[in-house]
Amino acid sequence: MFASRAGAYLALFVSFLLTFLNLVDGVKHENFKTCDQSGFCTRNRGYADKAAASGSSWTSPYQLDSKTVSVRNGQLTGVIIKTIENGSGTVRLPLVISFLDSGVARVTVDEEKRQKGEIELRHGSPARKERYNGVQDWVIVGGLTLDQNIAERTTDQDETIVSYGPKKSFQAVIKHAPFSIDFRRDEETQIKFNSKGWLSMEHWRPKVDREQKEGEPAPPESTEDESTWWEESFGGNTDTKPKGPESVGLDITFPGYEHVYGIPEHAGPLSLKQTRGSSGQYDQPYRLYNSDVFEYEMDTPMTLYGAIPLMQAHRKDSTVGVFWLNAAETWIDIVKSKTSSNPLSLGIGGTTDTQTHWFSESGLLDVFVFLGPTPKNIIQDYSELTGYSQLPQHFALGYHQCRWNYVTDEDVKDVDRKFDKAKIPYDVIWLDIEYTEGKKYFTWDKDNFPDPLGMQKHLDSHGRKLVIIVDPHIKNEGNYPVVDALKSQNLGINNKENNIFEGWCWPGSSYWIDAFNPAALAWWKSLFAYSNFPGTTPNTFLWNDMNEPSVFNGPETTMPKDNLHFGNWEHRDVHNVNGLTFVNATYEALLARDDPKHQRRPFVLTRSFYAGSQRQGAMWTGDNLASWDHLEASIPMILNQNIAGFSFSGADVGGFFGNPSKELQTRWFQAGAFYPFFRAHAHIDSRRREPYLEASGYVEPITQALRLRYSLLPAWYTSFHTAHTTGEPVMRPMWYVHPSDEAGFALDDQFYVGDTGLLVKPVLKEGVTSVDIYLPPTSNAPYYDYFTFETYTGSGKTVHLDAPLQGHTPVLMQGGHILPRKERPRKSSALMKFDPYTLVIALDNAGRAEGELYIDDGESFEYQKGAYIHRRFRFSSSSSADDNNKENNFSLVSDDLHPAPTKQTTSFLKTMKDVRVEKIVVVGALKAWEGKTEVVVTEDGEKERKVALQWNGGGRGKAAWAVVRDPGVRVGRGWRIAF
Ligand code: GLC
Repeated sequence: MFASRAGAYLALFVSFLLTFLNLVDGVKHENFKTCDQSGFCTRNRGYADKAAASGSSWTSPYQLDSKTVSVRNGQLTGVIIKTIENGSGTVRLPLVISFLDSGVARVTVDEEKRQKGEIELRHGSPARKERYNGVQDWVIVGGLTLDQNIAERTTDQDETIVSYGPKKSFQAVIKHAPFSIDFRRDEETQIKFNSKGWLSMEHWRPKVDREQKEGEPAPPESTEDESTWWEESFGGNTDTKPKGPESVGLDITFPGYEHVYGIPEHAGPLSLKQTRGSSGQYDQPYRLYNSDVFEYEMDTPMTLYGAIPLMQAHRKDSTVGVFWLNAAETWIDIVKSKTSSNPLSLGIGGTTDTQTHWFSESGLLDVFVFLGPTPKNIIQDYSELTGYSQLPQHFALGYHQCRWNYVTDEDVKDVDRKFDKAKIPYDVIWLDIEYTEGKKYFTWDKDNFPDPLGMQKHLDSHGRKLVIIVDPHIKNEGNYPVVDALKSQNLGINNKENNIFEGWCWPGSSYWIDAFNPAALAWWKSLFAYSNFPGTTPNTFLWNDMNEPSVFNGPETTMPKDNLHFGNWEHRDVHNVNGLTFVNATYEALLARDDPKHQRRPFVLTRSFYAGSQRQGAMWTGDNLASWDHLEASIPMILNQNIAGFSFSGADVGGFFGNPSKELQTRWFQAGAFYPFFRAHAHIDSRRREPYLEASGYVEPITQALRLRYSLLPAWYTSFHTAHTTGEPVMRPMWYVHPSDEAGFALDDQFYVGDTGLLVKPVLKEGVTSVDIYLPPTSNAPYYDYFTFETYTGSGKTVHLDAPLQGHTPVLMQGGHILPRKERPRKSSALMKFDPYTLVIALDNAGRAEGELYIDDGESFEYQKGAYIHRRFRFSSSSSADDNNKENNFSLVSDDLHPAPTKQTTSFLKTMKDVRVEKIVVVGALKAWEGKTEVVVTEDGEKERKVALQWNGGGRGKAAWAVVRDPGVRVGRGWRIAF
């Protein structure tokens, strides 16, 4: 018996392995559910259809009991009464609406019976009875202070109106019967809850046995379709659903808003498509159920590895948003329609409404509402709640060289040497699962990696780092202390019987750490101590993969939903936040391994993520293909991550599965040099593709792309600092930067880098050697070609740029910006630390420009104590009145943006005291400077100096430019250069 079961498992495992190892063609659709294969998706869509079909005769059966409404200390509380469909009673649903100091409103609905545990679970399940209320503990880190100054009034139409937000310009109009909320800003309705009447909370009910027993009367027939309430099977797995149906659903309408963005992760356009009813659109809702969807398809709302349920709706000059805080499987339908009311009478600009319908399988209804009005407001408020993007160590913004696998420690050293020989910079080399002994994490394969420390010493000698993979599955094998501890201390995820859950992943039979368990977290931290994981060093960083979690023989390649986590929560309730909890454990472990006085910022790459994961490190878009459409899709996917608060994101450069053509490989490097997270990676069966292996004619443009990345590292690091302190994305779509320009709202193949004014449009198609870049109508600023200073003054039109393969990604500099860069080619970013800076000043038509530079030690947390330099550079004319003298009045000034220098600031400044600006390039230089040969430099506390200025006339479409060579000013000091 045992032998045959083991045999069956082995066959299954081999078949899974073959699927994963072979280069199969495309996603396995049959492995993943469509809406009609998911009970609660079908039920919620069905409910919406029924309501829609009933037209005006439909009344939502949810009423806020007016007697229960009370408003106190920034919160409205009350009880919503649901009338059960066949008239068999009512259900009490406690409601809390919190008005936060930031102007965000939060609507939370629970179910009293489940809350009080007054229900019975089937099959004697030990699961918790409540709706899951713990996701906020993992996700929300701030911003919950209540606004004590809200004003409330009740009208005679049985509605309560709460004014809140900045100058009380926001209103929540809460209608009691049926229950609905309109969120208004400046008298206009921006967001509507339950205006369609699709609010649904599936209440607890006991299962009625519908089978007739001998000698007993026939039990009553059900009036509802119960077929998916008590059990559901998919792909040979049965979900026992001990809590019965428990889904939550709500319609959320954005009147006058045509575009909605967000809800990553999906492989589709940035502006989300409709999911019902219209040709050329999707026929499935967007799905959020973190899954290992390797070789995923393009242009689909299918789920992928991570989930951020934040959606922004945008129309000309207004952005609003919602954040659906629920970690269970979630689907979102999107339908657009012509505005039903006269848009002008509503005061709304747009003529299209976007209706969305959200539903999750279990948990609370918990929605945050953002009323903008700018995209920046939304991302700031959202980041205050869920945390800001981590400020990565500086090396992590360099280039990462990965493949499955570098096979020996000698191989690693060899690759390292070859990079140097080819004079190609890189910062990090990665080891995939094969470095371990038989896929047992926290071990090294002693035959192939006999000397991990020697290998790392070698990397260290030129400032390079190592990343190794550690996944959440722990091999089930004898003589493996890690699995012994996991089992003996009950630190694993359990099955529905509350015994440790066993499944299959890379190592074969495995168990999974339950990172929800504080004891498991403490244990995980101990495993990374240098003494417990010999062969690791302070420069060994981590990659957490397969953390959806991927379970090869599980339903939809993940865990059974009736598995149990710490606190007896069902896996169903916590699924989408599972990956985050695992990365949290690793992040904490990396902190714990260092002396608390000398802690360095952890680097962890994750595949699975949820809202809040941006605090912990980087993500990548998983197992893509070496194909042009995957390269193309990477841009909207990464843009979407960025506007969802998770800037540190990238895609496998070159494509994971398959072998890219030389052209594709080159284009991918050219585009990837502008991903916030820049890593090449390749499947074990693909050919070696380190950049130096490329043929002549290809290796040069790839090297150039890498050097471009390195020269712009000061700008990237400054942009990450902005993301870390404001939530503003590192990679920004057109609509975000130009919220008034409707022509840019759907564009997702060109983007800006932070606040730098760099506008990038990579070539994403085969055989293409030019691009058309759309230039938004900006009143006062030309765009300059980054490489040639060709000037484009297009406003609201498209300009054509050559982009030969042997060249580089087209990049424009928007006038009005100052860009810091470093121009000396080095082996790694660490070796550039004290290199001098170049400032590139792209002038607007008025001869002005501004930019920032942020510098710190690039690795520790000392910046939190003030150990950093933050400068603002301003180029302007000091007096515009005196035209005759105009050319003398321009100056470049470096101001300190440090709000409160500390003693750590002083010591950091000391380390940087010799770092200077070695070159200033002014693009769009004034004609009046022709013949000018000097500028006057004044550095704080020093004597005035004259430095040579060189003027170049440009011409033939090229801007004039001027160069100041070696002005000698220090980057950490205040100074002025008069032109
Ligand atoms: C998964 C990852 C991939 C990795 C492989 C082996 O497929 O997505 O990046 O190389 O596992 O660890």
